[in-house]
Amino acid sequence: DGSEARGSKGKKAFSEQESWEEQQIRKSRLQFGAQDRRDLSVDKYQLVFEDAVEFVKSAEMAGTDLDDDETDGLADEIKVTLQRELQDQRKALPVYKFKDELLKAIAEHQIIIVVGETGSGKTTQIPQYLHEAGYTSNGRRIACTQPRRVAAMSVAARVAKEMGVKLGHEVGYAIRFEDCTSERTVVKYMTDGMLLREFLGEPDLASYGVVIVDEAHERSISTDILLGLVKDVARFRPDLKLLISSATLNAERFSDFFDMAPVFKIPGRRYTVDIHYTVAPEADYVDAAVATVLQLHVTQPSPGDILVFLTGQEEIETVEEILRRRTRGLGTKIAELVICPIYANLPTELQAKIFEPAPPGARKVVLGTNIAETSLTIGGISYVVDPGFCKVKSYSPRTGTESLLVQPISKASADQRAGRSGRTGPGKCFRLFTEHSYAKEMEDETVPEIQRSNLASVVLSLKALGINDLVSFDFMDPPASEGLLRALEDLFALGALNSRGELTKTGRRMAELPLDPMLAKAIVASEKYGCSEEMITIASMLSAGNAVFYRPKDKALIADAARQRFFNAGGGGDHVALLNVYTEWEQSGHSAQWCVDHFVQSRTMRRARDVREQLVALLERVEIERRSSAGDLDAVRKAITAGFFRNAAQRRRDGAYRTVKSWRTVFVHPSSGMARVDPPPRWVLYHELVETTREYMRQVMELKPEWLLEIAPHYYKENNLDTPEPKKAKAHGQDAAAAIATEKPSLSLKDFFKA
Ligand code: CDP
Ligand code: MG
Repeated sequence: DGSEARGSKGKKAFSEQESWEEQQIRKSRLQFGAQDRRDLSVDKYQLVFEDAVEFVKSAEMAGTDLDDDETDGLADEIKVTLQRELQDQRKALPVYKFKDELLKAIAEHQIIIVVGETGSGKTTQIPQYLHEAGYTSNGRRIACTQPRRVAAMSVAARVAKEMGVKLGHEVGYAIRFEDCTSERTVVKYMTDGMLLREFLGEPDLASYGVVIVDEAHERSISTDILLGLVKDVARFRPDLKLLISSATLNAERFSDFFDMAPVFKIPGRRYTVDIHYTVAPEADYVDAAVATVLQLHVTQPSPGDILVFLTGQEEIETVEEILRRRTRGLGTKIAELVICPIYANLPTELQAKIFEPAPPGARKVVLGTNIAETSLTIGGISYVVDPGFCKVKSYSPRTGTESLLVQPISKASADQRAGRSGRTGPGKCFRLFTEHSYAKEMEDETVPEIQRSNLASVVLSLKALGINDLVSFDFMDPPASEGLLRALEDLFALGALNSRGELTKTGRRMAELPLDPMLAKAIVASEKYGCSEEMITIASMLSAGNAVFYRPKDKALIADAARQRFFNAGGGGDHVALLNVYTEWEQSGHSAQWCVDHFVQSRTMRRARDVREQLVALLERVEIERRSSAGDLDAVRKAITAGFFRNAAQRRRDGAYRTVKSWRTVFVHPSSGMARVDPPPRWVLYHELVETTREYMRQVMELKPEWLLEIAPHYYKENNLDTPEPKKAKAHGQDAAAAIATEKPSLSLKDFFKA
């Protein structure tokens, strides 16, 4: 079954990482254990045994299944020891003391709000308590939703271990494009987005007896929608138990929303945390963070690990590199500093590393994103370094663009972050901002995601669920009506809704695909252009992550040339480059060596292949025939245009681009192959905009302007194209206003809300 396949996959990943020498050491160590332990003294036996236990633990962390002969009979003994250790740990968690009380409350009430500090055992223990108490004996499952994929996977792995079962058997997880569950799964961790998708096929959630909406305080967009939906389901399914769990104290809001549902508080064990502020604002918080970490490392007593909050993968990698360089410079003058990054796209094999304790004498520093704020609990942290920023999605309904911006965090976040240092003993938090900015400048709470996101995807899902009246949907915090309107307009322009705001056949098919509506539309449109094979490949590559290529510093030029070759083959364009990469990799027999030779990340490719397999199955479900356009790349470009026509831009005389309808000035991202095309094309289409110092187009292809009229005649008119470049004197604001005035689709939007 599926979980067996996973096990062997995990094993491969482990042995790939392991060098030949390491393998030999491992083998000889185990053989030593096997031959000699009969003759060993008790003390020595204990050492060998502990060594083996450590080994089995690390193998488990890496997802490797050890054969019994590999551990030579020690396996059973080791398992018993590990289980005992684990069960002791479970009993030491704050929630354990309240187990009976909690179960009683759940038995008496249909809906309960559970509040407890991060690390009190809500996520890992409560589903187990419910399982042990018989809530799954009626054949129904327990669902526990997480806003983050990483959390869903790592928590499921942990709980499988605690229950002594294989991941994917009784305990499993489901995230987009990855289902690690089986027939016998009773405890299912999943992203909130996945449960939302399950609503499409099972609107009464009949396969679940308990739904735990976990990490509700995060207020992710999917969680917010779920809250509205499960509230409704609970009304007509009195047998369904609903738990809303949150790490922060504003539980009253959840209680109010769920008609005064009782709040169950798990008292935390939090030690005091000393908070230090900077005297003046920091000019460069990355530098300041590095300096603070190093200073803590040399001045503060060990043990005591450090947790640094950064905004994203790139920043984490920068800090990691600077720290490595600086500590190497200091050599043996200081104790070892073990650096552990953690962010959403970190490969699973490396995620486990953050939970491992540092070796004796060394200190661990965890460089994490918001993920480390409440979703994951890392033991041993005594010091928190908080620059006070995070990356948040922000959306402008006026222009229809969504961007990730680095912004100051809220007070609530700052307090959560500080609290991470006081779990195992008194902690210290070093805030790289001033006390004044905490008191006077920071917002109290983070704005819920639903109020700062593109809602097209959500509206499409709700429409597919038959919820037409969006205005009276029971939102905890309703999104701005401007945003809802914009989403309806976008979906209308994509042909997913008709002029009465009802879902069309195209829309129904799009809703089945777990992708952004524009990408979903491109796939649906690929049927018409006879290129569904190519389109799902491109969609898989786009969904597998941004890290397709890598660029070692000492081979930068060769790497760039290799990359440009993919781009140039087949008439140019980043989308076609992704298609070329995948096709060649497939022809190489999915070879890892091929990836090395062409500076391609094999991990991304493997993920793309997994995603593609799922999309193939989904094509069948929405009845789109698998067809290849056999080298006709214009067909592929037209399918992409059918989804992304709004992202068309025209080159200006000064070399920058201007989006066709919203008249924004945008630039080709330096990572795009298009950045090295001379002369650059007059018309382009991009996949997405990223905003840093400028607005950059990422994944760019050339476009024929007549396609816009052919493919999106309801959106573009002749006069939108080839508008002369505005004269300098004309105020920009006026242009934009004029552009937006013409952008409105010609239908009565009021109709949408009635439908
Ligand atoms: O959900 P909550 O924050 O209340 O706690 P939890 O996630 O259930 O974590 C309880 C304990 O399990 C933590 O203190 C961790 O020590 C441990 N844990 C772990 O070792 N590995 C994980 N992936 C998750 C939790
Ligand atoms: Mg939790």
